[in-house]
Amino acid sequence: MSGMGEIILDGKSYKLPVLVGTEKEKAVDITKLRQDSGYITLDSGYGNTGACKSAITFIDGDLGILRYRGIPIEELADKSDFVETSYLLIYGQLPNRTQREEFRNLLSGHAMIHEGMIKFFDGYPTTAHPMAILSAMVCSLSSYYPEHLDPNDPTQVNHLVPRLLSKMRTIAAYSYKKSKGQPVIYPKSDLDYCSNFLRMMFATPAEEYQIDPDMVKALNVLLILHADHEQNCSTSTVRLVGSSDANLFASIAAGICALWGPKHGGANQEVVEMLELIEKEKVPVKEIVRRAKDKNSGFRLMGFGHRVYKNFDPRAKVIKTYCDKLLAKKGIKDPLLDIAKELEEAALSDDFFKERKLYPNVDFYSGVIYRAMGIPTDMFTVMFALGRLPGWIAHWIEMHRDGDGRIGRPRQVYVGDTQRPYIPMDQRK
Ligand code: SDX
Repeated sequence: MSGMGEIILDGKSYKLPVLVGTEKEKAVDITKLRQDSGYITLDSGYGNTGACKSAITFIDGDLGILRYRGIPIEELADKSDFVETSYLLIYGQLPNRTQREEFRNLLSGHAMIHEGMIKFFDGYPTTAHPMAILSAMVCSLSSYYPEHLDPNDPTQVNHLVPRLLSKMRTIAAYSYKKSKGQPVIYPKSDLDYCSNFLRMMFATPAEEYQIDPDMVKALNVLLILHADHEQNCSTSTVRLVGSSDANLFASIAAGICALWGPKHGGANQEVVEMLELIEKEKVPVKEIVRRAKDKNSGFRLMGFGHRVYKNFDPRAKVIKTYCDKLLAKKGIKDPLLDIAKELEEAALSDDFFKERKLYPNVDFYSGVIYRAMGIPTDMFTVMFALGRLPGWIAHWIEMHRDGDGRIGRPRQVYVGDTQRPYIPMDQRK
């Protein structure tokens, strides 16, 4: 707590506690506002409303800063890997050697899913979107752990965490194989998280997959950069669903559905589809910028803009650098990368984008790297979900451990009809 603020309503003064966070974020605590004054606050899109206190991720949208448990993402992308970063987010500290080995072994040892679950895939059309499959399968995982579903028992939750992290990766790869009409490739417990994923995606019974360390490193970097982002739409969904004491699998499945939206994680698929259309129809970049500025066009420059970043999304900077390095090293020429760079340059020199502080976000370049890995466009949001999973888990655990245990239930301002009588059918117009 850091003192008191004051609000005057109907000429009456109300004192409200003021909170200042470790990075100087200031908040007025309105917990008692309605009971004291009868007023609630209204904040469409929650742009000004803090839902909780959290110690997991810090973002400074003006300076373009993003840190997980205080560590800059640039350092983690360079020096860590996804499994270690997942441990950091979930348990709050970087693991020591023993902890890291134990965590890795847990993930490797629990990579397989129940044989019965593999049959679920056969019910889907090959055209089913993998996000639909992922959310359904993750929720269905709860059926296999009936004795570990109490969200308020840390032992039960800890039993689930490595299993969910590892199995969601396996489910993602299996959904791709099924969409191709190929047999699933079982995980190998002697492979690390990312190598296992790429092998399960691209190996076939007819030929082994040659693990490419450059692709493994690039995948680790992408997953690290997507691992958390404080109270974004899908993480807030996981917290809200979790606040009803729904189990971990159900809460994460809800987060997957929220992430699917094109305004959120679905944007990475939309970016590449936009770039492919520009390339196919040879639409001039300045025409794209014009459409993006025209409210009546119904077109938005996907991968641009952000609720919090009013400067470069630091993740976009790292991804763009890795994109250049990886494609150059592999000798890959992707015309979509050139179009993306041209679009970025055109938009960032245009007053419409500059005035609104619209910069490339995490989704603008990520798809180009996924394409270089051979990952199909409709799997891009699944990749985002795999990356975001440790962040969702960390917030869900933090909410149960440090929250006040109350179910999330926002208020509203009612603007509908005031009381009126029921009208019998023969009197209706
Ligand atoms: C993610 O919250 C997170 O942290 C999310 C995320 C995470 O890691 O979890 O970072 C991941 O979701 C990244 C965002 C991916 N989405 C997109 O790239 C879709 C395109 N972007 C936009 O739809 C939009 O920028 C949002 C949804 C990202 C942010 O929307 P806001 O904050 O509600 O902003 P807004 O819609 O009120 O826009 C403000 C102005 C408007 O113009 P005016 O009404 O002021 O004239 O900017 C314009 C908008 O029309 N605008 C755009 C634009 N984004 C905003 N105009 C053209 N193209 C765009 N992309």
